[in-house]
Amino acid sequence: MAKYLDLKKTYNKNALKEASRYIKEGKLVLFPTETVYGIGADGLNAEAVKKIFIAKGRASDNPLILHVSNYQMIEQIASDITPLEKKLITNFFPGPLTIVLKRKNHVPNVVTANLDTVGVRMPENKIAHDLIALANTPIAAPSANISGRPSGTNISDIFDELNDKVDYIIDGGETKVGLESTVIKVIDNEIHILRPGKITYDDLKKYGKVVIPKHILKEVDKNDQVLSPGMKYKHYAPNTKCLLVYSSNHNKLIAKMQELETANTLVITNEKNIKNFKNAISYGSTLDEISHNIFKILRSIDKKNYELVIIEGVKAEGLGLAIMNRLIRACSHNYLEI
Ligand code: TXA
Ligand code: MG
Repeated sequence: MAKYLDLKKTYNKNALKEASRYIKEGKLVLFPTETVYGIGADGLNAEAVKKIFIAKGRASDNPLILHVSNYQMIEQIASDITPLEKKLITNFFPGPLTIVLKRKNHVPNVVTANLDTVGVRMPENKIAHDLIALANTPIAAPSANISGRPSGTNISDIFDELNDKVDYIIDGGETKVGLESTVIKVIDNEIHILRPGKITYDDLKKYGKVVIPKHILKEVDKNDQVLSPGMKYKHYAPNTKCLLVYSSNHNKLIAKMQELETANTLVITNEKNIKNFKNAISYGSTLDEISHNIFKILRSIDKKNYELVIIEGVKAEGLGLAIMNRLIRACSHNYLEI
């Protein structure tokens, strides 16, 4: 049983003192960020970080992001920061962006999965920021979920899954963005998107050439060399069979989804399309709404008993690229484009 702190309605920094002590004592603290919840531990304490891997059932070759609250903390863990990296940090931190930087040697190998780099992110969420500042150490934190499940965007979705696996739970209500941070790495002065998110291709391209690797929307073979180890693993998929359908032609898309639906299917679609189907729920009307809602909806699917869930895809541009990246994995690459 974890200790539970409710900060949904009222918040003051002092309330986080106890949780920050837990971090310093090498314990696990579940906390909100603006993207998704994280399972945090003192990022410079190897024994504490190992507990995260056990709690999540996470593969040890999948590195963790270190969360910082100020620029000095970045310099504490990263070295040889290039002018382009510095520009990206200045413009996007704090916010939903992770930059993979050259690591310093004292960062524990368990954090970086023995890579010579470390993922660094400065969350914008006040609770996350203050927790890191009070603990006065970079906090290692993966998304709050058992490996393979959708990331947690509110405590009620993940309470049963993680309550007996962490020491402390900070409830900050629903996370704002709902999808994990954009992960980038600068290689030869080009910005490679390792995982798409709220910070988009267009946001980044003001600062240099941006590369979107093929694996973002494709299946990765276990033996493929990928820049982001997390992309190799099965992710987000409910047990119920899911099919992602997309067409740039709206009428064709609706007709195809109608053809596929049976008496026992659920259609997940845009607000205004609901009326076209026998049994449908809305994931929102805008990309921001879809991003905010999608993990909660994916988590709810297995509670019902459908033979098939048909999910309407979105154009893979802007935030739509991140949404399609998650949906394609949720559907185990069961994807139909017409
Ligand atoms: O929004 C987020 O990023 C959330 C919140 C809690 O901050 N965290 C999160 O962490 O999504 P996680 O561990 O679920 O995903 C981190 C991703 C993984 O795909 C991992 O492989 C990649 O970032 N990553 C971390 N460090 C890396 C590194 N040094 N090189 C390449 N990829 C890295
Ligand atoms: Mg994750």
